[in-house]
Amino acid sequence: MRVVRHISELRPTPSTGLVPTMGALHDGHRALLRAARAENELVVASLFVNPAQFDERSDLAAYPRDEERDAAIAEAEGVDVLFAPEADELYPPDFATWVEPELTGLEGEARPGHFRGVATVCLKLFNLVRPERAYFGQKDAQQAAVLRRLVRDLNVPVEIRVLPTVRDDDGLALSSRNARLSADERSRALGLPRALHDASGADDPVAEARALLDLLHPDYVEVVDLGEALVLAAAVRVGETRLIDNVLLEGVIA
Ligand code: PAJ
Repeated sequence: MRVVRHISELRPTPSTGLVPTMGALHDGHRALLRAARAENELVVASLFVNPAQFDERSDLAAYPRDEERDAAIAEAEGVDVLFAPEADELYPPDFATWVEPELTGLEGEARPGHFRGVATVCLKLFNLVRPERAYFGQKDAQQAAVLRRLVRDLNVPVEIRVLPTVRDDDGLALSSRNARLSADERSRALGLPRALHDASGADDPVAEARALLDLLHPDYVEVVDLGEALVLAAAVRVGETRLIDNVLLEGVIA
């Protein structure tokens, strides 16, 4: 038996931070793992290429998988538990219950079913791990907004922490998809962060970004509300690769 004198010691379980990922870990994921390590007693990371959130089978098949490398990175960042289930562990054959977010913005409209897959797997992870905090990147702003709404609407007792986008030296937001870009595509892709950055100071940032991105034929340009911040977001296709990015318009992300 423990006799405790302070309210903080009453907590029955150690504070847990959860970092959901699909692997192919890079410095963007590392930033989330580091924040989780700094802010929690226990850090759980998940490594699961969630089939439910892929709208194209070829995209799911092409997703990079290297568990050994990812486990080494997670370990180096101080992760206590790496949850790396097989697909049928989370989706048994008779799986039949889905979370259907209604407000998914233009990214959701462009990828039907995607946020239902994200919301469902994240709610399952929240229920399984019961973290106090869960960590997500600003890079996927609409995803963060959907998950903030999910925990509010369904009263899930977890704090959604959103951390700033980590970029390469040339300004491109880190993404596992960047590896698919040829040198020429990469230089064209740089037009996305540049346009968003240049448009963010304009009177009408959406119209300005649309004009600046004209040659890249954006899927959409929109303002996403993250609660503590507003960001200007867009998606473009460069060759076969779809890229998303966003920049801060108002507020803070930290
Ligand atoms: P994944 O693409 O692996 O990303 C895992 C987390 O890392 C997400 O919160 C994402 O926003 C964040 N992230 C990715 N690139 C980043 C960057 N350049 N800077 C900062 N953070 C970055 O997003 C998913 O997986 C899945 O949808 C998931 C939430 C795991 C549900 O399956």
